[in-house]
Amino acid sequence: MIEQFKQDVDAGLSANEKSLPSQYFYDATGDRIFQEIMDMPEYYLTRAEDEIFFKKTQQLIDALNVSKDSFFEIIELGAGDGKKTKKLLKKLVKQGYDFVYHPVDISGNILEHLEQVLAKEIPDLDVQPRQDHYFDALAAYNASAHKKVVLFLGSNIGNLDDELAADFLYQMGSNFKHDDILLLGVDLKKPRDIVLPAYNDSNGITARFNLNLLTRINRELGANFSLDNFSHAPEYVEEEGIAYSYLLSLATQTVYIESLDKTYNFAEGEKIHTEISRKYDEDILNNIIAETDFKLVSKIMDSNAYFADYILKRQ
Ligand code: AVJ
Repeated sequence: MIEQFKQDVDAGLSANEKSLPSQYFYDATGDRIFQEIMDMPEYYLTRAEDEIFFKKTQQLIDALNVSKDSFFEIIELGAGDGKKTKKLLKKLVKQGYDFVYHPVDISGNILEHLEQVLAKEIPDLDVQPRQDHYFDALAAYNASAHKKVVLFLGSNIGNLDDELAADFLYQMGSNFKHDDILLLGVDLKKPRDIVLPAYNDSNGITARFNLNLLTRINRELGANFSLDNFSHAPEYVEEEGIAYSYLLSLATQTVYIESLDKTYNFAEGEKIHTEISRKYDEDILNNIIAETDFKLVSKIMDSNAYFADYILKRQ
């Protein structure tokens, strides 16, 4: 794990256009800051998808095409705090469906917390968590003979560029049976004045989230990044529908990373690319799934049409 981190940091900071992988945001502090992000008024994504899960729960259940007579597995990739999913799980349990819930997350903290909450709030629910990366987790569940319902919510797929998203969905789809379902939550393309504040909030919470990546490198790899010398710099390219996060170097500076025994030079105004957050429409999605076994079956949106939960099946 730490070897991979070292390797990724070195590769990213040695490149001509510097970057760091967004997956490393989520240490214990990052998990906490992301919770704060989801509570920010500017971060409309959470409220939009919550609305779908809270107000259209039965519509979601109908879309899953599950039967009370046959056991199925719900696999949630990037389960997080499970707030929206709880609503769905509660209703499924109450209606007498027979299923197991597998929350998957790279954060062990998050999973432990989720397990405790679920044990208390839905005692009859069978929960089997898995701490893993998305790709590895999928491979583990592919062999199952039961019907699968895969939840990939919160526009978590949006951190992958279209090519990686296509690879990921290709792998998933090629292992789907005909009645398996993917519920894919995506943030929809919309004007800059709505999207950009979600990544550039007035209280600087997202800035803390982004800068925490440097704190983590300082702590885990023995680096000497000075946080005062970098600032959070997000952009949204509206035509494209992609929000980009950067850490902007505010000075000409050299950073030493002890565990790599290497120095990295930054020019004033140079940027480290840390994240993309893709926004979707039907054309973009159809493009991504074109080479996969998936087809879009239907979608459920919030009342503002900010966000959509798409139902995908094997063609
Ligand atoms: C968890 C990937 C959906 O891109 O909107 C939020 C992460 N980064 N604010 C997103 C994030 C900065 C978030 N996702």
